[in-house]
Amino acid sequence: MIEQSIVPEPLWPTPTLRIRHANCDELNLGLRRIILQKEGEILAAAKPTPVAGVEAGLTANWLEYNVLNWDYPEIAVFRKMVLSGLREYFKLVGNPDDPGLAIAGVSCWANVLRHGEYLAVHHHDPGFVSAHYTVHGGSEKGAEAHNLESGHTIYFRPGFMDRSHGGAQAGPTSPWDTDWRISVRPTPGTLYFFPSYVRHEVRPNLEGAERISIAMDVYVKRQNSFIHFGGRRWFVPRP
Ligand SMILES: [Fe+2]
Repeated sequence: MIEQSIVPEPLWPTPTLRIRHANCDELNLGLRRIILQKEGEILAAAKPTPVAGVEAGLTANWLEYNVLNWDYPEIAVFRKMVLSGLREYFKLVGNPDDPGLAIAGVSCWANVLRHGEYLAVHHHDPGFVSAHYTVHGGSEKGAEAHNLESGHTIYFRPGFMDRSHGGAQAGPTSPWDTDWRISVRPTPGTLYFFPSYVRHEVRPNLEGAERISIAMDVYVKRQNSFIHFGGRRWFVPRP
């Protein structure tokens, strides 16, 4: 009797997860107020580490603080959103109760992009999964006013940039290439999870208000990372 053993083992899949939150205008207003207030405090003692084409600001000081450790009711709500969202993400890649998928540490920072500012192409390797939450899309008039991909996050298909510079010179080299670039509008209340190795950029904010997002990198136990998940950069959830 021949027996089969079927074990799904995707090699390098790209599971992503988008969670939309409704009725979160009040939460986002609070998060915006908190982030802009903290921006003043953190930049007063700035120790920037240039990243993604950014030399200063909250993004470049990502090693110096952790949004999830801030003590505000709105942050407590956000923390719960992140942890429940992560559990949903882990379901895409395995058993969420697998001890190897227990969270070892989360680095979490805020990005405030003012008119003309952008984040150049980068990735978040060696994190396991990363996420963005949009607090404010940058338009004073709401999401409809966005134009020319203002503040959009562009995700690049893994592998594509290793063999192409993208843009017009990419050419129609293969029918598969129609998906080489996924453009996502910054919609407040959206929490988007993606593998940390996925290259992405944020197009320039062409609107009048600040485009505000909260980003994070999540490390899990199975990575056996040499990182010490202590100090101000890290958030480690209590069991
Ligand atoms: Fe990023």
